[in-house]
Parts: sequence; C-alpha cells; structure tokens
Amino acid sequence: RRRLLGTAGATGLALGAAGGAAGYAAAPAADKAAPLTSLGTDTVMFHGKHQPGITTALQARGHLVAFDLAAGAGRKEAAALLRRWSTTAQRLMAGEAAAQDDTDVARDAGPSSLTVTFGFGNSFFARTGLEKQRPVALDPLPDFSSDHLDKARSNGDLWVQIGADDALVAFHALRTLQKDAGSAARVRWQMNGFNRSPGATTQPMTARNLMGQIDGTRNPKPSESDFDRRIFVPAAGDPAWMANGSYAVVRRIRMLLDDWEKLSVKAQEDVVGRKKSTGAPLTGGTETTAMNLDKTDADGNLVVPLNAHARITRPDQNGGAAMLRRPFSFHDGFDTDGVPDAGLLFVCWQADPLRGFVPVQRKLDRGDALSTFIRHEASGLFAVPGGAAEGEYVGQRLLE
Ligand code: HEM
Repeated sequence: RRRLLGTAGATGLALGAAGGAAGYAAAPAADKAAPLTSLGTDTVMFHGKHQPGITTALQARGHLVAFDLAAGAGRKEAAALLRRWSTTAQRLMAGEAAAQDDTDVARDAGPSSLTVTFGFGNSFFARTGLEKQRPVALDPLPDFSSDHLDKARSNGDLWVQIGADDALVAFHALRTLQKDAGSAARVRWQMNGFNRSPGATTQPMTARNLMGQIDGTRNPKPSESDFDRRIFVPAAGDPAWMANGSYAVVRRIRMLLDDWEKLSVKAQEDVVGRKKSTGAPLTGGTETTAMNLDKTDADGNLVVPLNAHARITRPDQNGGAAMLRRPFSFHDGFDTDGVPDAGLLFVCWQADPLRGFVPVQRKLDRGDALSTFIRHEASGLFAVPGGAAEGEYVGQRLLE
C-alpha cells in the first residue's frame, strides 16, 4: 500500500487506525474527500524471531535513549522492568493505550510503524550479577584516534531505540517507557533523530542524510543469502540468550557542514565515490550499478579515488566485514557561533562488531576522504537479544 502523506492531493490529516486498535478510536475525518488510508495504520509486530526496529524500514522519527540501573537495583528489578517495557512496547506498537495512566499524546493516531527495541550494555552485567552471561562481543570498542567522545552521552546499562512515522507517537512511547522505568533506572542520555517522511518523494527512495547524499544504497538486504549470518547471532548462538539477537553500534557523528558545504558538488562526489544526485557510482550507471573500482579517466587517474568513502568501506576491502546501517539524522540547534550541531545518529547492526563496525571504523580512522568532515562525539555498543515469543518479555532468557 502506498503511503499518501506529502503526495499531491493528500491533506496530511491523521485518519487514525481504522478499528481494531483497542485504546484509541479512529479520528473523525475532517475532510470527507481525503484518502482513507494513512501511514498511521501501518503496524510492525512486536513478537517475532528478531526484535522490531532492525530490518524495519527507516521511520521518520527516532529516539535513542540509554538508562542506568538505579543504585540498589539488580537482576530482579531489571527483570521486572523489561517485563513492564515489553508490555508497553507490545501495546503501543499495536496502537493501544499504555496499560496505566496513558497521557493521550498518541490518541487518535494509529501505531504509525512504531517500533521499540531493547538492548543491554557492557555495564549491565556486573550490576545484575550476570557477568558470566556477558557476551565477548560486548567487550568495549577500541579507542579510535579521531574520536571526540563525550562519556556522559556514551554507553549505558540499557538502551532503547524508538522509531515511528509520527512524532507524537514516538514521543508518547519515549515518555511512557521513561515512566515505566520508575525507581529501577534513570535516563543516562537521550538523542532525537529523524528521516524523510514516508510519501515525501513521489517514489520510495533510499534516504538522504544532512550532507545531501543518498545513504544506505549498499546495505545488506534481507533477501541475500548471507544476510542473517552477517546481521544476526545464530539460533545456536553464544551465549544462548543472544540467539537471533544482534549487536548495535551507536555513534553520534557530527557533520562539519560549514566545511562540507563549501566543497563543489564534484569535490563532494569524489569524497564518497558516488553521484550526489542519483547515488550512482562515479564509474557510471544507476544507484544500483556495481562500482568499477579499477576504472581510470583519460589521465590515468582512478575515477573512484583510493580514499573515497564508498570504496574504503566495502566488504571486499575489509575481509568481508559488513553491517546494516540504520541511522537517523539529528539537528540539535546551532552553537553560539552559528555552527550547526547536526549530523548522523549512526546505528549499525551486525552479528559480531569485530566482523562489522570495528574493522571498517579502524580503516576510516586512518583517514578516508569523509573523515575531515565528520566527528564522532558519542558511542555505544549494545547486545540486542532476539525477539520475544508470545507471552515472553524481551531479555527473559537472560534474566530468569
Ligand atoms: C557507504 C555516508 C559513516 C560504513 C556510504 C555511502 C554514503 C555514506 C553516502 C554510499 C552509499 C551507500 O552504500 O550507503 C556516510 C556518512 C557517514 C558515514 C555521511 C558519517 C556521518 C560511516 C561509518 C561506517 C560506515 C562510521 C562504519 C564504520 C559504510 C559502509 C558503506 C557505506 C559499510 C557501504 C559500503 C559498500 O558496501 O559498498 N556511507 N557514512 N559509514 N558506509 Fe558510510
């Protein structure tokens, strides 16, 4: 079903979930001529083999939030919290009201592709006496020489990723989950992001980032035979509680837009190795045409420079290292000197960070063409367990 927001003739009215959503009635249509479908009715399943929010299409709004367990809270409190959080996630993702004291913020709207994804940080395991269950893959990421990391906005015991195609639905989930934390955990850091609204372009397209580049073209696709192996921990995974889970690397990457925007489009394209307008490789074709790494121009120079970002990051240049990049853009206003505090909330998913993010970032850290225009300002690594089965809460196999 095509989504209608933003396309010619659509009013942008929220038409709400058409029946079935127990908590919220459908909003009355103010304009009877308006189309009767709405992105609000799009629903993602909470239960499943994998948690939602990994292979789900990028949503227009995102909140990333890390929590630390409160002093005195341990495994028992964490288990109760994950149970509360899972109930809330399941209800809100189905378009229902929160179990208690719903604030009405998402009233009238359908679930709007809401997803809620939960993860555990390295520090969680010592706090809950579960050190023996801590995966080796959660060992802290190495330091990178170009990092400018703010520790207060990095890591954390617990991580929640919220995505929705409606800003109020996303905020509602964020606030409800924060209230659910009660006295068990408090927010350590929070980041807000966005992507293009569904329907803003006449055709569905790969997203653009705040540098104006088409970003996500060469992501692994679920239809590829090695997708699961690259992105998800096997069902017979180690540790067992991480079966069908994945590891999320989160980086707040500031874009130095004042410098970037001074470059000519040609120079910007050389930085990435792809056309800005279409995302096609500089060696020709369309967005999906294979890049010809060896092609030279009339002067004998490589058409895709050796330090181009899209050359350096390729799995075939990194011993097969691959990851699913699923970012949100962010803009947190302007610094006092007018410099935009904007960039990418880079979230990437892989079965093992040592075969995904780490080798590629090691290489980028040595200086690809893009590195002079970005700055990594915060970092997190989280173990995201597999999806909850019916009647189960997320993380139950770890916490019970
Ligand atoms: C590809 C932008 C950071 C890994 C790309 C592409 C763009 C891009 C425009 C080409 C289109 C595509 O295939 O998606 C950016 C920007 C970044 C950033 C603006 C920072 C603000 C990173 C980081 C990593 C990374 C930190 C991992 C450590 C990749 C990978 C590819 C890619 C794996 C695809 C390579 C391939 O398979 O051909 N990026 N990137 N990127 N980037 Fe980045």
